[in-house]
Amino acid sequence: MLHYTSTGSGQTIVLIHGFCENNTCFNEQVFLLKAHYNLICIDLPGHGLSPLQEPFGIEDIADRVKQVLDTCGVEQCVMMGHSMGGYVTLAFAKKHATYLKGYGLLHSTANTDSEERKNKRDQAIKLIQTKGAAFYVEQFIPPLFAAGTDAVLIKARQQSNANISSTTLITCLTAMKNRPDSHELLHTSKLPVAFIAGGQDAIIPLADMLAQAASVPVAHLTVLPDAAHMGMLEKPTEVTKAIGDFAAFCFGV
Ligand code: MLT
Repeated sequence: MLHYTSTGSGQTIVLIHGFCENNTCFNEQVFLLKAHYNLICIDLPGHGLSPLQEPFGIEDIADRVKQVLDTCGVEQCVMMGHSMGGYVTLAFAKKHATYLKGYGLLHSTANTDSEERKNKRDQAIKLIQTKGAAFYVEQFIPPLFAAGTDAVLIKARQQSNANISSTTLITCLTAMKNRPDSHELLHTSKLPVAFIAGGQDAIIPLADMLAQAASVPVAHLTVLPDAAHMGMLEKPTEVTKAIGDFAAFCFGV
């Protein structure tokens, strides 16, 4: 079973973090939204306090997220996924849509990996095999933030994720490399879909998120011009407002 926290009361918002992160990256959103919502923050397999379990495709993780919701007795929620957590959210929306009132991508994409991106994942796997997990995590995290971000914030995320294992990193990189395209899901979505994009994001370009938002029948778009890939930490108030406004729209409150 995946580790999760459940905080606050009211309708449920599920938050799913990305690669090399854990559910504490949403602490600010939980703090600011818990008076109005029940926030379920899930640790992905091998991250935070969750064990690494096989099988480990993105779809398998979506099934484990469903297991958490069933355990919590949650029948309807709004789900937001950051980056790799967004890939899980898209897989969840394909397989378990009846649980959703709406879902969203925070610096994430319906695209599958380009050939160039797949090659970069192979290079990353080689780097982990030769230099180890701690080295990889240390150098992976800083470029996720916009230039000029407080070094203390970046250091805190490096420390919070310093113990992720090589097996987890390699398994995740392989799962992301093999994930399917999700454009059809977006084009035909009967649910509202939120997009939160960073103007400085080097991993998920702003243009990709704008194009995807334009393809969805009911989209809720927030652009953070000065943020890179970590809006929930770089611009916590704006991201909290975007999630809260989207949830209120989806739940009709
Ligand atoms: C993430 O932040 O979850 C990953 O960088 C996403 C990716 O590599 O596609």
